[in-house]
Amino acid sequence: MIVADAPGKIILFGEHFVVKGVPALAMAINLRARVVFNITNNNCLVLDSRIIGRYELCGHSERIERKGDLLKPYLTIIDNEYNRHHNGLYIVIDSQIPIGAGLGSSGATSIALSGGIVFLNKGCVDKTTVYGLAMKAESIFHSKPSGIDPRTSLEGGLILYRDQKRFDKLSYRIPSDIDFLIVNSGIPRKTSLAVTKVLNRYERQKKIMQKIYEAAEELIIEALNTLKHGDYTALGELMLINQGLLNAIGVSYPVGEKIIKMAIDSGALGAKITGAGLGGYILILVEKEKEKKVAKKIEEEGFKDIIKVNYDHRGLHVVSES
Ligand code: PMV
Repeated sequence: MIVADAPGKIILFGEHFVVKGVPALAMAINLRARVVFNITNNNCLVLDSRIIGRYELCGHSERIERKGDLLKPYLTIIDNEYNRHHNGLYIVIDSQIPIGAGLGSSGATSIALSGGIVFLNKGCVDKTTVYGLAMKAESIFHSKPSGIDPRTSLEGGLILYRDQKRFDKLSYRIPSDIDFLIVNSGIPRKTSLAVTKVLNRYERQKKIMQKIYEAAEELIIEALNTLKHGDYTALGELMLINQGLLNAIGVSYPVGEKIIKMAIDSGALGAKITGAGLGGYILILVEKEKEKKVAKKIEEEGFKDIIKVNYDHRGLHVVSES
């Protein structure tokens, strides 16, 4: 039996802008996708997700339970590397990462799945192959992914991401008196739709959009400076500016803005969309001593799904268990 797990992520700065080559800053969090592989001898490939459903392929015959067809993009990972001398595989996906919420659930699952498959075939984890395989599934899920999600899941920690080949794992420590909260807006969204909306606006309003993208690039430089100096008040302010830019490119939404306003009014340092926007989770930066007050205020307004997330330095992890 092989067990592989990988973390989800939050984007601190630069979502969407990264799709056009502006660097972005992402952080792996302590919510993980876990994939367990069992070799069987019934000639069946089974993908079983507690949350999504079950997909089974025996010869050419498919069986789908609940929303198991949503697991199909993951087959590209398995098809390519699935070593035919395995007579069957029973794969269980068990993820703590909310789906379709901007927390990199598909990226983390793709990385854990790829990691396990590569380990099964080669006996070791070769990061380049794992990332390449995960990107195949991500391209089906998200149409034009920058690759930031699977990269952060693979590496863990704080990632300054430029493109599929260029990234840095930063060594800044997040102090223990700083917390990150994520709040579920309750609005479902789809990354590919949000990305398309932004790219269409870019084409229509190129001159203005280019200026906004330049500002997003400046913002990253400033954010790295403030992180280096541990100035979290300034970092919070930069998050609000980033939110303003996300609004300008078309991915803000009223419920999200409401949560951000509540967070800031009750003492948070900063707040913004994390991930594609138009729904999903809102990210809040808050001093530990004010965390309870901020969470209480937001909860009172009916947003009960609030999670405190921590920095996770550990990326993909694969073990063989008997
Ligand atoms: O899928 P999400 O919501 O985690 O968003 C990914 C970040 C985007 O910049 C919007 C898209 C991308 O591929 O970088």
